[in-house]
Amino acid sequence: MIHLMGRDLVYLDNAATSLPKPESVVEAVKDALTRAGNPGRSGHFLSYQSMRDLFEAREAVARLVGADDSSRIVLTPNATFALNLAIKGVLKEGDHVVTSVMEHNSVLRPLSSLSERGVEVTYVEADHEGYVDPDDVIRAFRKNTKMVVLTHGSNVTGAVNDVASVGKATRERGILFLVDASQTAGVRHINVEEMGVDLLAAPGHKALFGPQGTGFLYVREGIRVEPLVEGGTGSRSEEPRHPEFYPDRLEAGTLNSVGFAGLVEGIAFVEGKGIENIYAHERELTSRLLESLRGERRIVVYGPGGTRDRLGVVLVNVKGADPGEVAMVLDEKHGIMVRAGLHCAPFAHRVLGTFPEGGVRISFSAMNTKEDADMAVRALLEIAREMGSDS
Ligand code: ALA
Repeated sequence: MIHLMGRDLVYLDNAATSLPKPESVVEAVKDALTRAGNPGRSGHFLSYQSMRDLFEAREAVARLVGADDSSRIVLTPNATFALNLAIKGVLKEGDHVVTSVMEHNSVLRPLSSLSERGVEVTYVEADHEGYVDPDDVIRAFRKNTKMVVLTHGSNVTGAVNDVASVGKATRERGILFLVDASQTAGVRHINVEEMGVDLLAAPGHKALFGPQGTGFLYVREGIRVEPLVEGGTGSRSEEPRHPEFYPDRLEAGTLNSVGFAGLVEGIAFVEGKGIENIYAHERELTSRLLESLRGERRIVVYGPGGTRDRLGVVLVNVKGADPGEVAMVLDEKHGIMVRAGLHCAPFAHRVLGTFPEGGVRISFSAMNTKEDADMAVRALLEIAREMGSDS
């Protein structure tokens, strides 16, 4: 439980954005904002300090994802920007791309607009828990398959996909592999080389505990990505064309050095705790929640059970009750913050049979406690008694 704005709150919406942030992140943001010059533009002391904040963020991200060269970490405002950059910067008319029904709209919508411009898209199905079978991805390959775009972990069911098997297959065939690590960066081990990943997008503000307005795209050396935006970089200013070298090639305009200073501390927090420990903690809270809700006839739980690789993301519904109303009662009566609806992943809800009303999503972070999970259970049981039906 946290005390915020005069209320005691249980924050269980970490798949949307993590809260609370570690104190070290808050302090770093305050410090960086107090002394922020324009990174990489003016040549003075303060400008250099802000440039250093960006450099340290690239280094921290490179370490986190197992990239050798931190100049291949492109800093973006969020994962959506990073995914758009990778998708629109690579795919051209006549290309084929394989993706899955579990993707977020930050993948589905760019692909939908590209499909109107001659890019062929195959949506691989998922099983009833939200897992995508790597063999189904491989079976979808065609002669003109240029790219696979796959979520590492579902933001709706928490199912963690076997990206390494997909990466092995794409690497063997010279197909590019773009991974959406929005839900897994900070919770699951990521190594772009071990996993055969060419492009990897993630936000800074979820399990990495950075501020909103931070995200990144890893681009493997040798992969050609066209810029989405061009403009000032503080480098080669005499040239009319946007620079070719990284990271400047895919960055333009003043970057969020204040936010990235916070992200450096967020990643340090995750590394200090240990990703495996964070994963184990979230699994424990998830199992506790699942165990307590098992057998409740007025509550439906979707997605993976306790055994397969999964995140601390659990989708539920109270039978007969609108998910939006359940979330509202959780907030207003119980002080529990969750997200209801479609979670910007409409096809995933079709897989689960929860389209179009969606569901109530509970999502844990390293900051949550067993008591938080128990409070969610108690509140859901009460709501089920008051608002639920047996069928
Ligand atoms: N993509 C975020 C979510 O799943 C915002 O809630």
